[in-house]
Amino acid sequence: MNIDTTAPVHYDRMLVVLHWVLALGLFYQLGLGLWMEDIPKDPPGPRAQWFNLHKSTGICLGLLILWRLGWRATHSVPASPTGNTDLQNKLGKLAHRLLYVCMLVMPVSGFIGSNFSQYPVKFFGVALPKLLEPWAEGKEFSSEIHKITAFVFMILIILHVSAAFWHQFVKRDGLLSRMGWRR
Ligand code: HEM
Ligand code: HEM
Repeated sequence: MNIDTTAPVHYDRMLVVLHWVLALGLFYQLGLGLWMEDIPKDPPGPRAQWFNLHKSTGICLGLLILWRLGWRATHSVPASPTGNTDLQNKLGKLAHRLLYVCMLVMPVSGFIGSNFSQYPVKFFGVALPKLLEPWAEGKEFSSEIHKITAFVFMILIILHVSAAFWHQFVKRDGLLSRMGWRR
């Protein structure tokens, strides 16, 4: 196994802040998304209000995710943990990549789907310009992608958090501190 001796020991602080802010934000966003689906359609007001909030916070999270991806692509990160097997490290890297894919697909599919509807997306009450013509099939397709990806994302998050706990409490290799503020 090649060990990169030039790699940093910790994630840099920008990535640490973005990881934890987004973890909190995404837990909230996934929870809100699942919960709001059960709001009755009649009267329409409350359902529309919660949907609009979900869209607005989703756009903010999407911008933070773009920032994180840009930062991640231009800064070095720690090498894979040394105490793992090659297979564990490969699976870990794959899981991280898939988490990033889900983080990108979620806001993009939500935004595109909402633009295919006949109503404009309201960003905290301000109607954004309509980017696409209303198209029911396009909306339906984006909605399916949004829902399937949400499901895959939640499974990956459960695996990811379980792996973090396994490192922390079973292997006790201090992996969590790589994503911590203290140096
Ligand atoms: C990181 C960002 C996002 C996450 C994690 C997220 C998560 C979710 C979840 C879990 C659901 C419920 C799906 C289900 O019933 O199985 C949902 C539904 C929905 N989301 Fe998002 N969402 C995000 C961003 C957005 C954005 C940016 C928009 C639009 C601008 C949006 C629009 C919608 C809409 C309209 C629904 C209702 C179902 C549908 O028509 O697709 N979401 N979202
Ligand atoms: C929505 C929730 C979460 C998402 C989407 C997420 C996503 C990610 C991603 C993509 C990475 C890879 C970072 C990179 O290489 O650029 C990562 C690293 C990490 N995450 Fe999370 N995370 C979440 C929640 C959590 C939670 C709750 C914990 C702890 C209990 C955690 C612990 C860690 C640790 C320790 C690392 C560093 C792993 C290493 O050093 O190789 N994450 N996370």
